[in-house]
Amino acid sequence: MASVQLDRVRKVYDNGQVAVHGASFEIADGELMVLVGPSGCGKSTLLRMIAGLEEISDGNLLIGERRVNDVAPKDRDIAMVFQSYALYPHMTVADNLAFGLKLRGAPRAEIDRRVNAAAETLGMTHMLGKLPREMSGGQRQRVALGRALVREPSVFLLDEPLSNLDAKLRHSVRTEIGRLHRQLGATMVYVTHDQVEAMTLGQRIVVLKDGEIQQIDTPMALYEKPANLFVAGFLGSPAMNVLYGTLHQADGLHLSLDDGTQLPLGHALVANPWSGRRVALGVRPEHLLPAGIGKAAFEAQVELIEPVGNEVFVNLTYAGHALVARMPPQRLPEPGQALRVTVEGAVLHFFDPDTGLRLA
Ligand SMILES: Nc1ncnc2c1ncn2[C@@H]1O[C@H](COP(=O)(O)OP(=O)(O)OP(=O)(O)O)[C@@H](O)[C@H]1O
Ligand SMILES: [Mg+2]
Repeated sequence: MASVQLDRVRKVYDNGQVAVHGASFEIADGELMVLVGPSGCGKSTLLRMIAGLEEISDGNLLIGERRVNDVAPKDRDIAMVFQSYALYPHMTVADNLAFGLKLRGAPRAEIDRRVNAAAETLGMTHMLGKLPREMSGGQRQRVALGRALVREPSVFLLDEPLSNLDAKLRHSVRTEIGRLHRQLGATMVYVTHDQVEAMTLGQRIVVLKDGEIQQIDTPMALYEKPANLFVAGFLGSPAMNVLYGTLHQADGLHLSLDDGTQLPLGHALVANPWSGRRVALGVRPEHLLPAGIGKAAFEAQVELIEPVGNEVFVNLTYAGHALVARMPPQRLPEPGQALRVTVEGAVLHFFDPDTGLRLA
């Protein structure tokens, strides 16, 4: 296995498009790093540069101790899994797994050993004689994983490998990838635009937007301390509520929204350091609660209640501002009626309204 180091790695396509503005980070030996961000943010470009499928315009890429900018993909000791699993339809699973090794001229005994080991790891030994069309989408994607496994590479690169699968299969193959990672102790770089996949699978996550790294941290650290409004809004579903206004003290802390509406934030024990300042206030849906007695509450109007089963998403408006709360299933007012809610004592996030950066 090996670490991967990016040092100001930049990609400018021939048409002048800057897809990656200069990325610097290290993926530790044995780490599962997820690259996440919306469509077009440069995830695949970054991964393909690590794979050697895309030329690096500037900066340095190291796999292990070796600078590999000019090393051909086949000599980088990596294996890549793509979204479209593209198996050879006329070949059995065994032949699909063996194909790459045969091309490289590996000895027969070595091919058999690796194919059997990969099939064993993936629980597919009984399927080695099947053709792709005889298998489900999840099983085919597992064969595609197997094709990477037989390479026994130092680094696995996966580009949205689950997006062709339905929700249930996505979950089971995702669990499988997590298990494989633990079992092999492999270095993996996993690209997805799905924040749930990123949060559940990644040991650390790189959040990208428009070719620029927004934040790199563990899933929980990103969730609890997003570095800016983009990360705050991207991770978490439903997304964090954000309101713009000026903080001031008057019988507790208030946010005076830009249209003059007052939002009571409660009586904190410690004075808020940004009193008097204009801020973007972030409140996660689970931190907007039905108000008990004595809390600094405000009356919001229920617009729509979305039951999810174990919880409900309550869509509210407060003086025209849309808010989403996430609550345990309970009796709630009907749409059109009022609900007293509070953020007193809840975790509040404060951002600079101009730069979007978290106020520390
Ligand atoms: N061969 C190319 N030539 C020119 N521009 C490209 C090329 N490939 C990608 N781009 C541009 O580079 C940017 C990043 O593309 P990339 O494919 O890396 O995004 P992505 O994050 O993987 O998106 P998605 O989630 O849709 O797969 C996009 O604006 C895209 O249009
Ligand atoms: Mg992509």
